[in-house]
Amino acid sequence: MPGTGSRIAVRHAASAAEYIPPRASLSRLRAAATRCRGCDLWTCGRTVFGEGPRTAQVMLVGEQPGDQEERAGHPFVGPSGRVLDAALAAAGIDRDTVYVTNAVKHFKYERGEKSARRIHKKPRDSEMRACRPWLLAEIRLTKPRVIVALGATAARSLLGPQFRVTKHRGKPVASEWAAAVVATVHPSAVLRAPPAERARAERAFFADIRAVATVIGNTSD
Ligand code: URA
Ligand code: SF4
Repeated sequence: MPGTGSRIAVRHAASAAEYIPPRASLSRLRAAATRCRGCDLWTCGRTVFGEGPRTAQVMLVGEQPGDQEERAGHPFVGPSGRVLDAALAAAGIDRDTVYVTNAVKHFKYERGEKSARRIHKKPRDSEMRACRPWLLAEIRLTKPRVIVALGATAARSLLGPQFRVTKHRGKPVASEWAAAVVATVHPSAVLRAPPAERARAERAFFADIRAVATVIGNTSD
């Protein structure tokens, strides 16, 4: 057949699925994720897995770790994490009680032209799909009552490509993953807002996180 002979057979793992040990605990999952080669991003540094108690009622899902998260090996410890911490505190949610993770577990970046700074690059759909089995395994184990999708990438991964954060932000939607999924903007959107918009963006983000507190409060009796 024309063309077939010219293909070089390079084998890529289609996704993280084959790296996930069956019936594993969270700590075994985390250990296995350090060896994941489910997509090409494994070359970008260390795996930053989710963190939090197995019994967490709330799971927060970001996009991917950033520069500081990759260095520290923990999710949401950089500038976006500080915005998130402030929103959680304002909503009366203790961060130690929530499970914090990302749709993609590796930091995707490019080098700056003038400096060696690592600049965040959006993950592709194929990378999100490849990494999704880790997120689903985390959900299966923690069984959160509410999942918060922080930004479009997390919302896409959990609610599909049609879902529009701008249209549905802050509104709990039922899903196969949890009784409620609440999508909002990514905290970096608050940081990137122009100065005149910043306070408003922060208020809106804080209000969405407060809606999460309401959902848990409303369903806890
Ligand atoms: N942005 C994310 O989406 N996740 C992190 O962990 C840090 C920044
Ligand atoms: Fe594995 Fe996800 Fe990292 Fe890709 S981004 S190598 S699927 S952990």
